[in-house]
Amino acid sequence: MYISKLQLRYFRCYEQLALELPPGQSLLVGPNATGKTSLLEGILLLATTKSPRTAYDRELVQWGKAWGYAAGHFQFETGPPRAIVVALRGQESSNAEGEPPPSYLTGAKGVQVDGQVVNSVVRAVGQAPAVLFAPDDLEIIKGSPGVRRRLLNMAIAQISPRYLADLHRYRRALQQRNELLKQMAEDRVDGARLAPWTNQLVEAGVRISADREQFLSQLGPVAAELQSQLTGGAEQLEVCYSGSLAGAGDEEQREALFRQQLERGLDRELRCGATQSGPHRDDVEITANGRLLRRYGSQGQQRTAALALKLAEAYIIGQRRGELPILLLDDCFSELDNRRTCWLLELLGSFRQVLVTSAAPSDSLREADWAASYKLEGGEVKQVREVAAANE
Ligand SMILES: Nc1ncnc2c1ncn2[C@@H]1O[C@H](COP(=O)(O)OP(=O)(O)OP(=O)(O)O)[C@@H](O)[C@H]1O
Ligand SMILES: [Mg+2]
Repeated sequence: MYISKLQLRYFRCYEQLALELPPGQSLLVGPNATGKTSLLEGILLLATTKSPRTAYDRELVQWGKAWGYAAGHFQFETGPPRAIVVALRGQESSNAEGEPPPSYLTGAKGVQVDGQVVNSVVRAVGQAPAVLFAPDDLEIIKGSPGVRRRLLNMAIAQISPRYLADLHRYRRALQQRNELLKQMAEDRVDGARLAPWTNQLVEAGVRISADREQFLSQLGPVAAELQSQLTGGAEQLEVCYSGSLAGAGDEEQREALFRQQLERGLDRELRCGATQSGPHRDDVEITANGRLLRRYGSQGQQRTAALALKLAEAYIIGQRRGELPILLLDDCFSELDNRRTCWLLELLGSFRQVLVTSAAPSDSLREADWAASYKLEGGEVKQVREVAAANE
């Protein structure tokens, strides 16, 4: 699949952008702060309804504006085209121009697919899958377990709508259960009230952990193969699901184990006022040649592994959906040597569409065979014939 047209209105540094994009690999070049990341962010917003940079949607709306949106036309090999719009409320109550917001923007966020309002986020996510790799993704390796859980959530949500619904239910049950645990510790409520929330927690938690384990069992070998190619066979990457329900077996066994953990851990839970086991504590263990990359990996090793994991994510989404997602690579060539740049470019050929941004493209990047090249200048994007011109 690919995005054939992107429109941005009052979105970050873009007042108004309408850009035609071809399939294949395109290069977007511009100095710092010209809107490279913002453009890719707009596409990822359409794919996931979320920004990879911030949890506060209003930050995406242009300063001083009351609303903004991203809109895209997506072309599929396995089905009809799809038009998606995600509109957001900004920090201001009205635009100086007095323009009214789009009619479907009744809350903080409004999503339209093919002209129809989509009320549930669960239905909006994954309509047009995309995977972004950005310099911050080093955190997948180095950061806290929460970063790795987020990677799992964003990837699996684009494959399975049920997953996101389970995640919402799980979070709600967890919050209610923790609140009750605190009240029980102070003898303010009857312990019997815990059971319904425990049941919901177990039901959703079992499915979440099974989905995560299955996803990682597919991702692991693909990421390992990519890492091996990237390092000339020197590094063996292993990706392993880690958490209280890891390796627990089928759903029945998983459920029995989760219930047992919650029952046995109740005293401790009452002392801490928080649920101690379950998918909210999950992690992904990432090792190279048997050693934890988070602790022992060099910067270069960590970066390569993060890239291998993201590319593997894109392949798995492609396998499960029958079509590869759009691949967005934000300034990820700047730290690669020539050999790795050429290898990565070759690998990108298997995707239907790849958008690559760069502030200062190297010779090998400039000389690659691009379907189109664009030059970015603070909120404007121009197509250029030669990449050399894009770099002037
Ligand atoms: N809500 C907003 N409204 C207007 N401008 C914004 C908003 N948020 C960010 N900006 C500005 O948009 C500009 C472009 O940011 P962006 O991160 O897209 O640049 P970039 O080309 O990726 O730069 P770099 O090469 O440094 O990564 C920056 O000057 C930034 O301060
Ligand atoms: Mg950037």
